[in-house]
Amino acid sequence: MDTITLTIDGQTATVPPGTTIRAAAASLGITVPTVCYHPHFTANSLCRVCVVEVERSRVLVTACSRPVEPGMVVQTHSPRVREARRTVLELVASAVDLSQAPALQALCAEYGADAGRYAGGEKRAFPFYDDNALYVRDYNKCILCWRCVQACGADVQYTFALTLTGRGFHTRVNTFENVPIPESTCVYCGNCVAACPTGALKGKREYQIENGLPLDPMPPGPGKRRRRSDGGQIDLLQSRERA
Ligand code: SF4
Ligand code: FES
Repeated sequence: MDTITLTIDGQTATVPPGTTIRAAAASLGITVPTVCYHPHFTANSLCRVCVVEVERSRVLVTACSRPVEPGMVVQTHSPRVREARRTVLELVASAVDLSQAPALQALCAEYGADAGRYAGGEKRAFPFYDDNALYVRDYNKCILCWRCVQACGADVQYTFALTLTGRGFHTRVNTFENVPIPESTCVYCGNCVAACPTGALKGKREYQIENGLPLDPMPPGPGKRRRRSDGGQIDLLQSRERA
C-alpha cells in the first residue's frame, strides 16, 4: 500500500503508511497540540495533550505516536478531546511550577485550564541542584516529558547520564544513583537543556543573570579536561563548591 487515506476534521488526508495522526493532520494545516513530542526524539505518548478522537475507538488516542489506518475518521478538537486536554493541563499545572514554561502557559490559556481546580493537592517538591558549572536543575518545574533523558540517551547523545527514578507521583529525572553531575557520565553537550520545555534545566549563567547572582568564572575549555584519579571517565567542569 503506497498511501493511506483517512478523514481528519472532515478533510481528506492521503499520506504514506507509518505517518502519525499528528503528521497527517499537519499535512492538512491542522495543528494538534503537543508537549512531550519533539521532532528529533522517539514519541513516547507521555503527556497525553495530543489526544484525539478516532471513530469506533473506545479511548482517545495519542496523535504523536499513533500511525494512521485506512478509513480512519479523526476529530482533533471535539468537545471530548478539548475536555481531556484541559484536565491533563489542570493536573500538571496543579502540581508543577509552570512559571517558566511559556508553551504550557499558552496551552492552559487556550484550553481554559484552571490551575486552582485541584488546589490543595500535592505539589512536586525536589531539591534544587546546582552541582556543576554549566547548568542547574529545578525538578519542581519538571513535567516528566522525558525529552532530556532522550536527548542524553539513544535519541541523540548516547551518554546516558540521565534516567527516570521513583514511582508514580514521585517519579523524577535523576542521574544514575543520584550522583552529582560531575560524577555522572555527562559530557556537558547541553542537549538536555535545549530540549527542556519548562525551564527545569537551565544554563548556569542564564540562571545567575535572572536571579541577580554573581557570575561564575567561565569554566575551563576542552583543553583543561582531565581524567579521574580512578582512570575512568573524563571529569571536567567541576562546580565552584567542588573545585
Ligand atoms: S527536566 Fe525538562 S526535559 Fe527533562 S523531563 Fe523534566 S521538563 Fe522534560
Ligand atoms: S505529545 Fe503526544 S503524548 Fe505528549
